[in-house]
Amino acid sequence: MSRLVVVSNRLADPRKPAAGGLAVALGETLKRTGGVWFGWSGKVVEDGTPGEGALHVSQAGSVTLAELDLCAEDHDAYYRGYANGVLWPVFHYRLDLAHFESGHLGGYRRVNQLFARKLMALLKPDDLIWIHDYHLIPLAAELRAMGCGNRIGFFLHIPLPPQQILAAIPSHEWLMRALFAYDLVGFQTEADLLHFSHYVKAEATAETVGVSQFRAFNSTVQAKAFPIGIDVEDFQRLGCAREARETFETTRKEYSRRRLLIGVDRLDYSKGLPHRIRAFRELLQQYPENRHSATLLQVASPSREDVDAYADIQRELESLCGSINGDYGDFEWMPIRYMHRTVARKRLPGLYRACAVALVTPLRDGMNLVAKEFVAAQDEEDPGVLVLSRFAGAAEQMKEALLVNPYDTHGTAQAIQHALQMPLEERKERHAALLARIREFDVHWWCRSFLQTLEQSRSEA
Ligand code: ADP
Ligand code: G6P
Repeated sequence: MSRLVVVSNRLADPRKPAAGGLAVALGETLKRTGGVWFGWSGKVVEDGTPGEGALHVSQAGSVTLAELDLCAEDHDAYYRGYANGVLWPVFHYRLDLAHFESGHLGGYRRVNQLFARKLMALLKPDDLIWIHDYHLIPLAAELRAMGCGNRIGFFLHIPLPPQQILAAIPSHEWLMRALFAYDLVGFQTEADLLHFSHYVKAEATAETVGVSQFRAFNSTVQAKAFPIGIDVEDFQRLGCAREARETFETTRKEYSRRRLLIGVDRLDYSKGLPHRIRAFRELLQQYPENRHSATLLQVASPSREDVDAYADIQRELESLCGSINGDYGDFEWMPIRYMHRTVARKRLPGLYRACAVALVTPLRDGMNLVAKEFVAAQDEEDPGVLVLSRFAGAAEQMKEALLVNPYDTHGTAQAIQHALQMPLEERKERHAALLARIREFDVHWWCRSFLQTLEQSRSEA
């Protein structure tokens, strides 16, 4: 069996609580399969030379970690400027938040070239290479230019927007052309795949040549949807361990007379946090029986704080939570407990289980693993209800959740009320269907099906 080489911008640090779908999903998988995980070390060298960086190779059990330092100028242009200042907002349909600067694109290309150069030196001829996410779209093209003939797959963890939105990126043709250097490109949903298909047919006159194969620029790429899952069993085991049970007990005790609602997100504008908070205010206004009885626990982990739009969303959220607590709270009850932090992973299942309703209401999301974690953590005899945005990739698979349009404050408040009132039988039915689906399409299914498809595919250069 070929050695697996995974490449992603961010590597999971086993000593820290992980936030972010990619780090959580891949950490466990690589441990089991062995191989190499190549990525940014997390270190920014203040006076380093652009396009250069030291590579640190170490062993973490069965996994070889190859960690690359970046100089401040490269990191700023590649990560803050292009990946998170252009690709993240545009791919999440937020053209209003995108800042196009040619210097940032230059840094993005330079860092992808640096990744390619350093990676080439570590590769064996039959390694299977799996590249992840929007930071590294042109990496295969750079590797091919250096003579790499290995099979290379790419998985996009975030949404792919429709052609008309993608086309707002000044370098969109270059970016999309780079996808044709891969043997296999994976998307989260059928909707994303359809956007890819429309784009390449309209902008690159690509032809379909067989099942899910697209031909353009003298090469053929296979493109398919592989919705990412979680490790359900592992998460449930975590839920049985001491820390999760303690968290469950203390949370239930502290809020013994309340119905709890939970939100767990990175503090990101794509997560729709202000919209969610406004829907909760509407719930308290429209359905006053929830005053004194419903409490929303919102945990938002700090994320990308050096990007302006993130500082703005933090201020907006703090002010909204403050005003709702000020308007509705009293000595006995505060409607919202807002925490700007990352919860230890081993406590998460206990927290989810203590809550009657989860609010997973992003304005746009590649998949959203919190939705799946919440379902996995529930007591099957008395499960909580998932309120899920129709704009999360997870909505394609999780139709038994209460699907909402997060822009519709009133409709979302109604759905939350429905969730709080739902009879036990209906909760059990919906939960059983959701649990069965996330078990069938778990993270092992995702990994297996992507890698099998990649092993079988070969691009015709
Ligand atoms: P994204 O990848 O955009 O961050 P996902 O919902 O797909 O969104 O994945 C987020 C992952 O990070 C989940 O595993 C979730 O449990 C974890 N996470 C997110 N926010 C927090 C938080 N505040 N505390 C602890 N874990 C978090
Ligand atoms: C999302 C992205 C990942 C990213 C994670 C955390 O899950 O798809 O690629 O690693 O967010 O964001 P950060 O910028 O901290 O790596």
